[in-house]
Amino acid sequence: EKQKGVDQILSEFLLTKEELKDVMRRMQREMDRGLRLETHDEASVKMLPTYVRSTPEGSEVGDFLALDLGGTNFRVMLVKVGEDEERGWKVETKHHMYSIPEDAMTGTAEMLFDYIAECISDFLDKHHIKHKKLPLGFTFSFPVRHEDLDKGILLNWTKGFKASGAEGNNVVGLLRDAIKRRGDFEMDVVAMVNDTVATMISCYYEDRSCEVGMIVGTGCNACYMEEMHTVELVEGDEGRMCVNTEWGAFGENGELEDFRLEYDRVVDESSLNPGHQLYEKLIGGKYMGELVRLVLMKLVNEGLLFNGEASDMLRTRGSFETRFVSQIESDTGDRKQIYNILSSLGVLPSELDCDIVHLACESVSTRAAHMCAAGLAGVINLMRERRYQDELKITVGVDGSVYKLHPRFKERFHKVVRELTPYCEISFIQSEEGSGRGAALISAVACKKAACLI
Ligand code: BG6
Ligand code: GLC
Repeated sequence: EKQKGVDQILSEFLLTKEELKDVMRRMQREMDRGLRLETHDEASVKMLPTYVRSTPEGSEVGDFLALDLGGTNFRVMLVKVGEDEERGWKVETKHHMYSIPEDAMTGTAEMLFDYIAECISDFLDKHHIKHKKLPLGFTFSFPVRHEDLDKGILLNWTKGFKASGAEGNNVVGLLRDAIKRRGDFEMDVVAMVNDTVATMISCYYEDRSCEVGMIVGTGCNACYMEEMHTVELVEGDEGRMCVNTEWGAFGENGELEDFRLEYDRVVDESSLNPGHQLYEKLIGGKYMGELVRLVLMKLVNEGLLFNGEASDMLRTRGSFETRFVSQIESDTGDRKQIYNILSSLGVLPSELDCDIVHLACESVSTRAAHMCAAGLAGVINLMRERRYQDELKITVGVDGSVYKLHPRFKERFHKVVRELTPYCEISFIQSEEGSGRGAALISAVACKKAACLI
């Protein structure tokens, strides 16, 4: 009887292949609308041109500074781009991680960028390079409407950032102003890129078929190389340009209403950006733990879990962290991990309770993997159509804590992507230190063009 009740609640998370195809087609439709001038403004998927083009004309060698803002950690890196006999290049990095205090994330833009400049200053001191004016590549993982590689306005914050006075402004300008305000070092900001783009480029240097970048971490997003003639927002028809899809916003025109559940609505309503990033909220690590918590509360309230009684902690928003989902699904059968996590949340679970919690995690994370797969399949099928190829051979560079740390996400995700993309041969590679290396490599190419002095 109990099992039936649990199954019924969790079965809502299952998506059939037909439903996933439907999500994929809707995603492709929005991507198409995002690319076209006529429909761009109303499309939920913005398809933002990045000014990162195909056919790089070689790159500079030397030291670059890279910043990485928008994932779990804020990082400052020193990247050495050098020549390598075999591959023609080589990169080495040194990096330092800084946590962004909550008040810098949600205060004013000035506070946030002053904090960033303070971290850079600290990093330069640590490595004794304060006197050098280095070229800087900025990985900024939010939707930006670029005017050029080193110029673009922040459209809107996502993932819990909310610093006022940044939306609608040139992000590189905000960074340059903060550096100027400090006045204790100089930098030459040459490129700003999204994390998906940095990830793709870092993998491209290992595998020339890498023309897609994807992040499944705090947030979820992808970029890919699109034919210039279909990127209507930028003039010119030659070659390809990388497009940042910002697919996390998919659903903002109601495209996901058939699939969103009561838990998704609660997560959305209590977020800093209600009504926005609805697809991302089904998948991203920022939201996954909370989704599971809400499902557990539902099961408790129906008398199906923990004898119908939750602890104060379990009733508290945000108490069930996304990393618990990974840890619970890594359980080897002895339920030890699950027991420990649940006890730390103030409940004393029976064996059956542990199994039910495991199932709840599996339901939420599997739906995330499948939803995300529908999106990527949409991108890859679109690329195949564009290129008129019978078979598309493509590599996807991936990063992000959910993809990398969850024990089963990858395999579930790969399986569905492949099911939805006949005639495509897809390889996945994980990027290591992707954003730093990617941002530095893009800067190195930009420097070559602009002939900056390193
Ligand atoms: C990192 C990349 O490793 O992954 C970042 O360097 C990216 O640029 C991040 O934003 C995404 O993952 P998460 O889980 O930290 O949000
Ligand atoms: C959010 C951001 C996007 C970023 C993604 C992954 O969706 O809007 O720019 O790529 O998170 O970090």
